This record gives sequence, structure tokens and C-alpha cells, in this order.
Amino acid sequence: MEKRQELYAGKAKSVFATDDPDRLILHFRDDTSAFDGERMESLERKGKVNNRFNAFIMNKLEEVGIPTHFEGLLSDNECMVKNMDMLPVECVVRNIAAGGLVKRLGVEEGSELNPPTFELFLKNDALHDPMINESLAETFGWATPEQLAEMKALTFRVNEVLKQLFADGNLLLVDYKLEFGLFQGQIVLGDEFSPDGCRLWDAETREKLDKDRFRQGLGGVIEAYEEVGKRIGVDFG
Ligand code: CDP
Repeated sequence: MEKRQELYAGKAKSVFATDDPDRLILHFRDDTSAFDGERMESLERKGKVNNRFNAFIMNKLEEVGIPTHFEGLLSDNECMVKNMDMLPVECVVRNIAAGGLVKRLGVEEGSELNPPTFELFLKNDALHDPMINESLAETFGWATPEQLAEMKALTFRVNEVLKQLFADGNLLLVDYKLEFGLFQGQIVLGDEFSPDGCRLWDAETREKLDKDRFRQGLGGVIEAYEEVGKRIGVDFG
């Protein structure tokens, strides 16, 4: 597989074409951002840690039959993925109240959410990823009702698998965001799963071990990601 030109540089990853039109290479950079890109910093080892973390999670999801874009690790900072048409919708599941939910509804951080909640957001930095719903997504053509139903079912299935995986490492999966795309007509999980896009707390102390350490200036960001990875069995090479 030959790496070709850079197609797109996101806030933390760059996407490269390959000689196969159905395959792309994702390069995980050390950059990290918060508040819709308003705060940017480079954190040593971040690209490698997230690339290997994501590979581990994608493999776990594939093992239980969840279709993902992941094809394999290429190097410390790169992996091969399917070239998909991404849907501009973010799916968020929450098991415990935190972040935007606490701000929006005034509920207490840390309250258990039973049953877990499901929210949709439009992927649009300029508009600060506004919350949307199924009706808006259908009307504006962001996703069909069938695609939305499939994404919701897959997002909850991911919750069952990952809640248990993290619980085995004495961690609480507080919430997370997933993005999906279409590959040969099928809804497939895309983007990445790493502590950048989810909240993970120590089950006993409730210490934050995810990107909130960066958002809240708590320090030890990558050390926390590595600690989480170590507890669930990620090979950081
Ligand atoms: O984290 P924030 O307050 O911006 O939003 P949230 O709705 O509380 O986020 C819920 C979960 O989705 C958290 O784990 C976020 O890290 C993740 N998320 C993300 O990865 N990317 C976004 N654009 C928005 C949320």
C-alpha cells in the first residue's frame, strides 16, 4: 500500500490518500485541541498513545461484530482505515452526568443516568456542534431515519461492550462520542475511540483520566491516557 497526498488535516489527525481508493491512512499527531479548536497544544507521545489505544478498542469492537473502519496499525502514529462517506452527525451516549449535560440541564455531575441517554449533535465547529434531533437530521438530509436507527443501535451496543471492558480495569465509562460513515452502503463506525472523545473516571476515586484533564488544565494528560490503556491491556509498544 502506497501512501499518497494529504487530503485533510483535522485538529488532531491528518488523513492521507493511498493507491487504493477504498483505503486511507490516518496519522495521529501530537496536537490536542479543546473548545472547538480555540485552545491547541502539542503533547508528547499523544499521537502514538491515541493511535494504539484506538487500534485496541476497534479490534475489541470488531471481535463482537460491530463494523468499524479500522483495517490495521501501520506504525506508531498511523493506521489504515476504510475510505467512507462520513455522516455529519455525532452520537453521544452518557452513563453518568458530566460536561455539556450538566451545563445544559443543571443536573449534578456524577449522577447515574438510568437508562443511559442518547444525544445527536451536528458536526460543525463554526456553530459549536449544536444539538440536533432525528427530525432535523432527516429534514436537512444529514442522515435518514434508517441510518439514525442503525447508528443509535450500534452506539448502545458499543456501550455494553466498552462499559464492561473499562469496568474490568476499575474505570467508569462516563460518556463518549461516536461518528459513523457509509462504506459500500453499510453504516460503519469511523473516527477514533480514545480518551479524547470519551470520559473515563477511576471507579473508586472518580479521578478524571480523559481529555477533561486538558480542558480543565489538570495536567498529566498523556500519563492518564497511558494509565487507562495499561489497565485495559493496550500495547503501547
Ligand atoms: O465535552 P463537552 O462538554 O464539549 O460536550 P459533551 O456533550 O459533554 O460531550 C460528551 C462526550 O462526547 C465527551 O466524552 C466528549 O469528550 C465527547 N465529545 C467529543 O469527543 N467531541 C465533540 N465534538 C463533542 C463531544
